[in-house]
Amino acid sequence: MQILVTGNQGYIGPVLTALAKARGHSVTGFDIGYFADGTPDPAVHRQVCGDVRDIAAKDLEGIDAIIHLAALSNDPMGALDPELTLDINFRASARLASLAKSVGVPRFIFASSCSLYGASGGEAALDETAPLQPVSAYALSKAKTEEALLALADRHFSPVLMRNATAYGVGPRPRFDLVVNNLAGWAHTDGVLRILSDGTPWRPLVHIEDIALAALSAAEAPTNIVHAQAFNIGHPDGNYQVRDIALAVQTAFAGSQLEFSGIANQDSRSYRVSFDKALNHLPGYVPHWTLDRGIDQVARWLGAGGLGPDRFNSPRFIRLAHLQQAMAQGLLDRKLRPASHPN
Ligand SMILES: NC(=O)c1ccc[n+]([C@@H]2O[C@H](COP(=O)([O-])OP(=O)(O)OC[C@H]3O[C@@H](n4cnc5c(N)ncnc54)[C@H](O)[C@@H]3O)[C@@H](O)[C@H]2O)c1
Repeated sequence: MQILVTGNQGYIGPVLTALAKARGHSVTGFDIGYFADGTPDPAVHRQVCGDVRDIAAKDLEGIDAIIHLAALSNDPMGALDPELTLDINFRASARLASLAKSVGVPRFIFASSCSLYGASGGEAALDETAPLQPVSAYALSKAKTEEALLALADRHFSPVLMRNATAYGVGPRPRFDLVVNNLAGWAHTDGVLRILSDGTPWRPLVHIEDIALAALSAAEAPTNIVHAQAFNIGHPDGNYQVRDIALAVQTAFAGSQLEFSGIANQDSRSYRVSFDKALNHLPGYVPHWTLDRGIDQVARWLGAGGLGPDRFNSPRFIRLAHLQQAMAQGLLDRKLRPASHPN
């Protein structure tokens, strides 16, 4: 298959392109390069440097499936500028999907998020029919995009909505702004895990390699199974309260301490989800990573000096700080376009 992966130069992207190549697909990458570090993605046969807000029909020629990752990709980043988040995450995604449909790309895999379940509370595990309760600009952008994609579905165009849990794990471009990796970063660097809540919120978790596997399974599946379907993506045991995540990380870092801020409502997100639909109906989706194994992977990477000269919470590893730094340095303008862009 010819697959276009947008956002291939981020956290999940290079893991996904490597797996796609290993499964025999030919991959084109499309990325604006917010986090490009001069290392080309070895798994793509063609890299386009571009903004999804400007993507054109010619970029989609010969493509059988689009896996659309490009976005301002978490709740804190969405808070940078909510309108800009809607521009990049929702309007550009809806436009890309319309363009894809108009040029005959049959399948569109969208990297959505369990964040759109928002403040559902965590009492029951939510399946894909649960009402959406976005509590952030980021989650709202995902919910609106899902709605727009479903409206485009017909017998020639199949959108698939991958509601990924919160990611963890190590890839070529690791992040430390996500709960598991962040706590591991604290444990490694300071020996103290700082939890910015009272530890009770629920978070579903998934390793980045299992997100990649799910997206490719959706690209390869028979149309009738995935057409216009949403799938929660995670491991069968993938729901944790933040304090349990912290305890698991603490266990992996001998001698580390836990510190709770005790502020219960700073972040109102709390949700538990059911992954049964993907586990039972998405062909080939067999997640491989348990949380303990993933923490061990992060711990080993940190222990082997993976951070190099940087702290885990430096702009190199925290996406919001990275973009703010690029803006402060005049490399990106307020619309997150390269400063030289004519607008
Ligand atoms: N990481 C997670 O926990 C998680 C969980 C659920 C869903 N997702 C979704 O998966 C996708 C990928 O996440 P990630 O963690 O790899 O994010 P990331 O921020 O690490 O990477 C996103 C990539 O998209 C690119 N990009 C952003 N805006 C662009 C634009 N206007 N034009 C072209 N490229 C652009 C960036 O340069 C970057 O390489 C996102 O859509 C995210 O919302 C991520």
